[in-house]
Amino acid sequence: MRVGVLTGGGDCPGLNAVIRGIVRKGVQEYGYDFTGFRDGWRGPLEGDTVRLDIPTVRGILPRGGTILGSSRTNPLKIEGGVRRVQENLAAEGVDALIAIGGEDTLGVAAALHREHGVKVVGVPKTIDNDLSATDYTFGFDTAVNIATEAIDRLHTTAESHMRVLVVEVMGRHAGWIALHSGLAGGANVILIPEQRFDLDQVCAWVESRFKIRYAPIVVVAEGAMPRDGDMVLKDGTLDSFGHVRLSGIGEWLANQIEKRTGKEARTTVLGHVQRGGTPSAFDRWLATRFGLHAVEAVRDGDFGKMVALRSTEIVRVPIGDATARIKTVDPSLYAEAGVFFG
Ligand code: F6P
Repeated sequence: MRVGVLTGGGDCPGLNAVIRGIVRKGVQEYGYDFTGFRDGWRGPLEGDTVRLDIPTVRGILPRGGTILGSSRTNPLKIEGGVRRVQENLAAEGVDALIAIGGEDTLGVAAALHREHGVKVVGVPKTIDNDLSATDYTFGFDTAVNIATEAIDRLHTTAESHMRVLVVEVMGRHAGWIALHSGLAGGANVILIPEQRFDLDQVCAWVESRFKIRYAPIVVVAEGAMPRDGDMVLKDGTLDSFGHVRLSGIGEWLANQIEKRTGKEARTTVLGHVQRGGTPSAFDRWLATRFGLHAVEAVRDGDFGKMVALRSTEIVRVPIGDATARIKTVDPSLYAEAGVFFG
């Protein structure tokens, strides 16, 4: 049995841990051979492969990024793309494929399985934690830890200068990183894409914080929007998915707060720092278990499935369950955090 492995979409701490788990179990317990495909779906599309065996996965557990490389190539959007993928899988003698990725990568996997019978198992990945059908995705915990540490540091500099510190974190469609890091870091305002915010209310929270002689920390997800969101949307450009990418909500918000409250405000945009570097212990644990269970699904011939975390169990769900809709922050969870605002 030869199993192909690929990692697609934005990289995420823990990808290497998954690859290691797959290869170690596959080789040691089942005697499988592996073929790594470079750069997500570009690998099978172009027949670009890389060696994958026990020596190549040695020492990669704590390393961020992915030894296989990643891209957002989508063979479904390329003329003849599916045929080329099928031909290259056959040419490499690949009997089954494990696709590690987010909404888009897994969307391709689901379609290839459903419509073309490709034997594929999915592993969910995103720092945003917005994939349905799994309690958590690996990479999220690391991103939250990085953002929390940043918030802790920003508290002390904000206090020293009695300034507003706006921290922009990742999350275009879901506010999980903002909510978790904001709560963990003791933010005074948390703004998420799921709920449009009222600028007057944000300014009121900021001012109330100053009244008790503390400097406010505002955590804003990159996809958060004010109620009269057109102001920001005008500056939006389309990203590679055709989504409107809001340019600099953090910067915009700090300017507005400064203008309206007369308090000095600064912005920190955490950006790709949240995605880089070594995975947390939780993410290594989750990613490793996903890898082990993905190769078990291959052994069982349980294709078209994705491994997922339910409580502490790893289960298998149809890949389509994860990609049908994104998992957003529940309004009650967000409301719960409101006691700390202001
Ligand atoms: O989906 C993961 C993610 O990190 C988002 O939070 C972020 O908006 C996006 O990827 C950034 O993508 P890119 O690295 O292509 O700019």
